[in-house]
Amino acid sequence: MSYNLLKGKKGIIFGALDEKSIAWKTALRCHEEGAQLVLTNAPVALRMGEINKLAEAVKAPVVGADVTNMDDLKKLFEESMKHFGGGIDFVLHSIGMSLNVRKNKHYTELDYGFNQKTLDISAMSLHRVLRTAWDMDALNEWGSVVALTYIAAQRVFPDYNEMADAKALLESVTRMFGYYYGVKKKVRVNTISQSPTRTTAGSGVKGFDGFVTYAEKMSPLGNASAEDCANYCVVMFSDLTKYVTMQNLFHDGGFSFTGVTQAVMEQMEK
Ligand SMILES: NC(=O)c1ccc[n+]([C@@H]2O[C@H](COP(=O)([O-])OP(=O)(O)OC[C@H]3O[C@@H](n4cnc5c(N)ncnc54)[C@H](O)[C@@H]3O)[C@@H](O)[C@H]2O)c1
Repeated sequence: MSYNLLKGKKGIIFGALDEKSIAWKTALRCHEEGAQLVLTNAPVALRMGEINKLAEAVKAPVVGADVTNMDDLKKLFEESMKHFGGGIDFVLHSIGMSLNVRKNKHYTELDYGFNQKTLDISAMSLHRVLRTAWDMDALNEWGSVVALTYIAAQRVFPDYNEMADAKALLESVTRMFGYYYGVKKKVRVNTISQSPTRTTAGSGVKGFDGFVTYAEKMSPLGNASAEDCANYCVVMFSDLTKYVTMQNLFHDGGFSFTGVTQAVMEQMEK
């Protein structure tokens, strides 16, 4: 169902890899709500070709950009502003990658070269995106930027490995840049902390199935789906949340504030 919440708004969506991606579902919902979009992903991801299906469905151009490359980002914002004929109202940062996880490096044995790349791709990339927009004055007043994060930034989930540190940094950049962009142009910047979700990035975490089942049992409402995360992003891009900024917003069925549930107690008593 559409509420026309994003009618006339223009946005850039980072990170739609395939149909399972949270960014993919968000692009579909934003389109349904009346937004005009530009889609972007790393050139290597574009080579998969999947994104073209989404581009057709949401009538959006695809512009390749490695989020760690400032020239790519500048080109992306230039092309987007040209396409929209003006400024940008919202940005979804839906990007995460851990080289140490990929290479099966334990947290106590991190390769620091990989770690730098992980932090750059997964966290400082938000700074790079905001900095590019800032330098080009690309975001409209009351614009909204959302990045996706996970509760491992606050609490230990051992197998989440170095991504826990990346998410903590991402949430800090959100607060810091959110402050400056709020003062300068009333642009708001927030993170949404999503339940474990079966996507390519999600499934890369060791023991992911256990993660999903545990979170399901520990959440009064159950795990939030990618579709529901997309709905929350739409609300955050809309004019109904104009004074929400610099926040980490839990979208997890109540997991973050639950000490224990009956379902987990029963499991323990077995
Ligand atoms: N899946 C989960 O359980 C879960 C839970 C909480 C938060 N998140 C976060 O949601 C976001 C989206 O992940 P997803 O689960 O939809 O998985 P996904 O694998 O579909 O998306 C990750 C995206 O990051 C992109 N990316 C990687 N390196 C890049 C680079 N250098 N430049 C540009 N893009 C690059 C990938 O191409 C991919 O599209 C991530 O930030 C992830 O950490 C996921």
